Amino acid sequence: MIKTSAPAKIILCGEHAVVYCRPAIALPLGDVRAYAEASSSAQGSGLRFAAPDLGESWAPADDPQHPMSELAAATLASLGAPEPDLTITLRSDIPIASGMGSGAAIGVALVRALAAAAGRELAPAEVSALVYASEARYHGTPSGIDNTVIAYERAVWFQRRPPERPRIEGVAIGAPLTLVVGDTGVRSATHLPVGAVRARWQADPAAYEALFDAVAEQVLRVRDALAAGDLAGLGAAMDANQVLLAQIGVSSPELERLVGAARAAGAPGAKLSGAGWGGVMIALAPPGGHTAIADALRDAGAARVRVASVAAQSPDR
Ligand code: MEV
Repeated sequence: MIKTSAPAKIILCGEHAVVYCRPAIALPLGDVRAYAEASSSAQGSGLRFAAPDLGESWAPADDPQHPMSELAAATLASLGAPEPDLTITLRSDIPIASGMGSGAAIGVALVRALAAAAGRELAPAEVSALVYASEARYHGTPSGIDNTVIAYERAVWFQRRPPERPRIEGVAIGAPLTLVVGDTGVRSATHLPVGAVRARWQADPAAYEALFDAVAEQVLRVRDALAAGDLAGLGAAMDANQVLLAQIGVSSPELERLVGAARAAGAPGAKLSGAGWGGVMIALAPPGGHTAIADALRDAGAARVRVASVAAQSPDR
């Protein structure tokens, strides 16, 4: 039996603008994961998938258009491996359409399971490229930040410049951080807000380019504040990013309510994370302050609250 997994992710600063070649910073959430479990089946039976959480089970041959069937085919082709006799069970603790990268995490776990079954270990860049191609088929214009942070499982500075060869760098974190992640419980598929932002950008490119530039300035502030362990500076940049995300048009009343509740409970900064219109928000907690923020988020209607600890690290950890 082979068991592989991949983490959820959050975007600390720069979502949406990252699609338009500005930088963004993302972190993995190691405690919330997607899993692929591969067990051998009878010789000649081929590959089969089971997704018990969704009540689905299928053979890629019967549903070749399924995103996981296509990703499996692309992975086997890149490994130069024949179709294995395996049942792969896919499970996830990451809520779907919540801005936490559930699709990319399932994809990374699947690619790793197929590679392990073929006796191979793929580098994070190879895993990331396979999952990016799969995301691009289903989500239109992904920047690639989700598959990158999930496949590398480390804090990343990501910029699509040039678009076909993104810059991926480590991020220095000068002091440990605590983030509180509040889920609005509203599910929102990534491609919907991403598509709406594209339509608005096409209608008024000058205004949206200026908004994306303003987001990029906050990403630089976040990088410097993270390196310096400056919680106040980090929080202020997160707050400024949230104002810009609302202007870009991807916040929602539920997200604003949770962000406001976190700030009122002492968070130095809070913002939506991911594509928006629903999904999760993140709040920075001051030392010892995460319980009050978590309670405030629950009182404000969060469907689920998680506390995530981020360790100090050097950029080349
Ligand atoms: C989604 O996690 C982040 C977005 O910037 C989309 C993308 O980068 O592909 C909204």
